[in-house]
Parts: sequence; structure tokens; C-alpha cells
Amino acid sequence: MPTTPKIAILPGDGIGPEIAAAAVRLLEHVGDFELTEHEIGGASIDAHGTALTDEVLEACRGADAVLLAAVGGPKWDAAVAADPSAPRPEQGLLGLRKGLGLFANLRPVRPSPALLDASPLKRERIEGTDLLVVRELTGGIYFGDSGRDGDTAHDDCAYSVDEIERIARIAFESARTKVTSVDKANVLETSRLWRETVTRLHADELPDVPLEHLLVDNAAMQLVSRPADFDVIVTENLFGDILSDEAAMLTGSLGMLPSASVGGDGPGLFEPVHGSAPDIAGTGSANPLATFGSVALMLRHGLGLDDEAAAVESAIDRALDGGLRTADLGGDATTEDATRAVLAQI
Ligand code: NAD
Ligand code: IPM
Ligand code: MN
Repeated sequence: MPTTPKIAILPGDGIGPEIAAAAVRLLEHVGDFELTEHEIGGASIDAHGTALTDEVLEACRGADAVLLAAVGGPKWDAAVAADPSAPRPEQGLLGLRKGLGLFANLRPVRPSPALLDASPLKRERIEGTDLLVVRELTGGIYFGDSGRDGDTAHDDCAYSVDEIERIARIAFESARTKVTSVDKANVLETSRLWRETVTRLHADELPDVPLEHLLVDNAAMQLVSRPADFDVIVTENLFGDILSDEAAMLTGSLGMLPSASVGGDGPGLFEPVHGSAPDIAGTGSANPLATFGSVALMLRHGLGLDDEAAAVESAIDRALDGGLRTADLGGDATTEDATRAVLAQI
């Protein structure tokens, strides 16, 4: 008999605990899992003085998959403003990604048919959109040297050929029709190395997949003017962070976009693209669908449970078809209503 998959659940801060609780109900509904909850981010700072303890990192390493809701909030931002050496909740998430070696963040953008009119963009522009942002996750400016010297601050951006090759390989392997590599090669040296490396890897290993290069400012524009023409977008850490929040609006709301962080030799990390939404935390109105979508990615890519993953994804689509709309989508359904609506479809 197969063993019960172990899932580490990291609720975090703000709306995190609310949507994590909804995800736990979804998981209990679709299968048999050993679930353990751990503190991360601000919750961990409050309890242990650090955003990620060694114990929690070890517990995540020992799990088959990790599901994270969100970290951060004004309370801890204020603590850092008062004392720059205070810990930040975001360090927990970055430490977890780095600690698990998760260099590839996959952010699929597939507007649910029922939501084609929920986006601020016109239906005819977004119809047919089905793209994947492949974001490099453990390099670049996020992990370079940084510091302050009097009135000056710096954040260094570095990339190696190896780091670029491994993320480009994932992009080419994920592509169905095309890879669009996004950089700022007209200004940045790291982007010129990025473009050279992607071009060479393409020629050497996967020349059959069409490759195009776009500068990031142009890519930001084209993402809203012709989103359906994209297939896989591969880009560095910071550009991927920004472009994926932009791409979320193609689906109607940031509250819809799931993600999978993979590439390490241990478990993957599955997390909604959005943050802890402090402005609505505690109101019970958070959209749990980005987290449910991340549960589906976890079932498929993290645990090999393809049927369960498909069941969750189609339940989300059917619930939306049935009229489910949380506040971010212009409706008045609560987190609880949304959870029940999806569970009822499984
Ligand atoms: P955010 O993503 O938390 O919120 C942006 C806007 O989108 C807000 O108006 C919010 O109410 C709305 N929103 C986000 N998720 C929603 C959901 N599920 N349902 C309904 N509305 C939703 O971004 P922010 O306000 O810039 O950041 C808040 C905090 O979250 C910061 O501390 C930031 O560092 C952190 N953050 C964490 C993660 C993460 O844990 N993965 C990601 C992004 C931001
Ligand atoms: C995300 C978030 C994180 C990032 C923050 C919270 C560190 O914005 O997952 O997109 O910038 O990677
Ligand atoms: Mn982000």
C-alpha cells in the first residue's frame, strides 16, 4: 500500500491563515494526507524571533510537498523601519526557496472561461490566453550583496551561466509552441549574459522550439496587448515577480494565480502568487482560488496525483461557471462561500 503523502502547511500572515485553512479543507476532501502546520514569516518572528527556524526548514525538507499561503505585513515593516536590523517576514520565504533549492517558479496564467468578462481587459484580447511564466527564483538581485553606506544603498544583481542554463532548460521543456525570453539586454550586463546563454542553449539542445527575445519594458506592454500570443515566458527573478502580477489581471484578479516552485532534490513549494493582503485580512473575504490552484499544482507536480489535480481544477472552473465571485472579482462571496462552492463540485 502506498504511504500517505506528507504535506507541510505554512499559513504565514495576514490572509494566509484564512486561505490555508480553506486549503486544508480542500485537501481533506480530495484525499488522504498527513498534514502538519508550521510557522513562517511574521508569525515565526513573533514566536521565535526569526522568519524561518531551522526546525521548520527541516520539517519542510522531510515533507513530500510544501504549501505556503502568504507572509508579511505592516506590523513587521514598521519594526524594520524602527530598527533596520529587525527580521523581515519575507526572509522566511526567500530562505525556504533557497534552502530547498527551488530555482524554478512556474506561474501558469489561464483565464477561466467564466471570468473572461471579469478582467479589466477586453474579452477579445484575453480570449485564448494560456501562458506560463517561468521565473528564475534563487538568483539575481534578490540574493546579491546588498547594504547601506550613509546616504547610499545598493543591491547587486549577479547571474552565472549555470543558473541561466538550468532555468532556460525548464522553459524549453515546458514549451508547446514558443519560448519568449525576457531581459534588459540593452542596459544590463546580466541580461546580455542571459540572452547569450539562452540563445546558445537553444541552438545546442532544443533548436526545434521557436525562441524570441523581448526587452522587459516591451514585454510588459505586449502582455496586455497580445497575451494570447505568448506560450512560455522565461525571465530572471525580479522581472518575473513584476510580470506575473501584471499577468494575473488577465485572469481577473491576483487572487486567482497559483504557482509551483520546483527544481530542488527535495519537495516542491506551492504558493499563490499574491501576498498577505493586509488590507482585507480578518474580513473573511479573501479569494482562496489561487491557493486552491496551487493545491492542484501540488497534487500534480509534487505528489503525482494527476486525477485529483484535474478534479480540483475542474471544480474551480465549475464553481466559477455557477456564478461564484469573491469581492476581488466583483462579487460578494466570502472565503467560506468560495470554499463550499468548490468542495460541492468535487
Ligand atoms: P498583496 O498581493 O498582498 O495584495 C495586493 C492587492 O491584491 C491588495 O489589494 C489585496 O487585497 C489584493 N489581494 C491579494 N490577494 C488576494 C486574495 N487572495 N483575495 C482578494 N484580494 C487579494 O500585495 P501587497 O499588498 O503589495 O503586499 C502585502 C504583503 O504581502 C507585503 O508584506 C508583501 O511583502 C507580502 N507578499 C507576500 C507574498 C508571499 O508570501 N508569497 C507575495 C507578495 C507579497
Ligand atoms: C512573490 C512575492 C515575493 C517575491 C516576496 C514576498 C519576497 O512577491 O512570491 O511573488 O518577491 O518573490
Ligand atoms: Mn510577487
